Amino acid sequence: MADDDSRAGSRYATRPILDWCAQTHAPHDAALARAFATPEGVPAIMVGPSEGQLLALLCKLAGARKVVEVGTLVGYSTIHMARALAPGGHLWSIEFDPKHAAIARDNLAAAGLADRVTVVEGAGVDVLPTLEPHGPFDVVFIDADKVNYDRYGAWAIANLRPGGLVLGDNSFLFGELMDESDRGRAMRGFHELVAKSCDSVNIPTPDGLVLGIKRPS
Ligand code: SAH
Ligand code: DHB
Ligand code: MG
Repeated sequence: MADDDSRAGSRYATRPILDWCAQTHAPHDAALARAFATPEGVPAIMVGPSEGQLLALLCKLAGARKVVEVGTLVGYSTIHMARALAPGGHLWSIEFDPKHAAIARDNLAAAGLADRVTVVEGAGVDVLPTLEPHGPFDVVFIDADKVNYDRYGAWAIANLRPGGLVLGDNSFLFGELMDESDRGRAMRGFHELVAKSCDSVNIPTPDGLVLGIKRPS
């Protein structure tokens, strides 16, 4: 049960508690460990181990066969979701930085997932329309440039099947969700359009994770 402190945002999840829970429910194997350990010059901004496992379980619950990810980095969240695909499924992951995309392809090959995942290089707003012939999609996971979340969200709603999932990482915008900035407005717009078209919730992971289930329209 929540108490006044936890309702106000206090966290009981200390580092040792978080680590023990991740180790117990979602231990890394070699492929995940490899993608979690970013090389020099690549920022370590992937989802956490428990959030990666949550993405995988949500894909399983949705029976996902066709998934789109915006923001690959080096493939950590990609591995989690690709492993959760139903037989014959495919994941398209979009990455703007060619260096990140190349490392991701190596990590996905090392995980034995090269045939189930296509890393598409380019900007999300340019690449997403080229994926439309593969749709409608079961899951769209948004985790790239925050200033475009409203555009990515609108694309997701338009290209998901009814009952499909839209997921958005960093939905607290690093504590800046209420800011009158371009990305503050874009992230609030993303929340609002998901809420309008989906049964939705903001899952209070440390960074916030929006989950929407597209309603039949
Ligand atoms: N989903 C990854 C983390 C992604 S980090 C994981 O959890 O493992 C965000 C990534 O988005 C970075 O690699 C960055 O290069 C990429 N990115 C930034 N702007 C982008 C854009 N406009 N289009 C596509 N990718 C972009
Ligand atoms: C950043 C991006 C992310 O997707 C994230 O989860 C954490 C940080 C960033 O751009 O700094
Ligand atoms: Mg993120």
